Amino acid sequence: MTAEQHHSHQATRQERHRHEQHGHGSHQDHQDHQDQHADHEHGGHHAHDGHRTHRFNPANIQRLLGQERQELLPVTATLQAAGIVPGHTVVDLGCGPGYFTLPAAALAGDTGRVYGVDVQPEMVDICLRRAAEAGHRQVDVLQSAEDHVPLAGSIADRVFIAFVLHETDNPPAFLREAKRLLKAGGEIAIVEWQKKDGPPGPPTAHRVSPEDVATVANQAGLRVLEQRPLNDHHYLVRLAAA
Ligand SMILES: C[S@@+](CC[C@H](N)C(=O)[O-])C[C@H]1O[C@@H](n2cnc3c(N)ncnc32)[C@H](O)[C@@H]1O
Repeated sequence: MTAEQHHSHQATRQERHRHEQHGHGSHQDHQDHQDQHADHEHGGHHAHDGHRTHRFNPANIQRLLGQERQELLPVTATLQAAGIVPGHTVVDLGCGPGYFTLPAAALAGDTGRVYGVDVQPEMVDICLRRAAEAGHRQVDVLQSAEDHVPLAGSIADRVFIAFVLHETDNPPAFLREAKRLLKAGGEIAIVEWQKKDGPPGPPTAHRVSPEDVATVANQAGLRVLEQRPLNDHHYLVRLAAA
């Protein structure tokens, strides 16, 4: 472990002490959590030292890998909508257990490279294990800190960010860090829940709208190339340096 990675590891552990964790189950799950834990145990974006407390609980990773999700959000079609093609270097920022990371590696092919990055060590471990089991040699998985990714700048054709922006403490700082990773002509793809009621996903109040994404992107020195719905619940926004 490099000094930088060690630092990231430490920082993340401290973050995790500050953050209460919960998973993205059905809307009903969230309601139940909120009803039962009216304060901050599972409620989401409560302020602790100015930080959000909303973070996906690794205990619920099967929800991120289930067949139901594949039906609602076909993974390869989503990655293609983000413009990922063979030979690309892709950073899957907030990769979780690798729902998108492994298919991104298949899409980028032998001449491509995929970096899975996550703040939670449990996610890094499982994504690494799944990539190894799938025989993807061109995948690296790294642990990051909240607004710092331990990768050199200007390396990525695509930075793919699915269902992460709404969890970040400082969205403009997070997107600025994503922008740092882009090659000239590279793009960031954001996938998020529509900000409306309905399963599956976090409560409406925790979701970010496409307009919210555009505002944050603007603050981070990015411009919107395209915004489109992927289905009734999810949308994609493609961003490039302004
Ligand atoms: C809802 S999960 C989505 C995982 C994956 N992108 C997917 O769609 O299957 C959100 C992930 O983002 C990670 N995350 C949250 N904030 C992050 C940050 N600032 N930097 C990197 N990862 C972050 C969480 O640890 C979690 O694994």
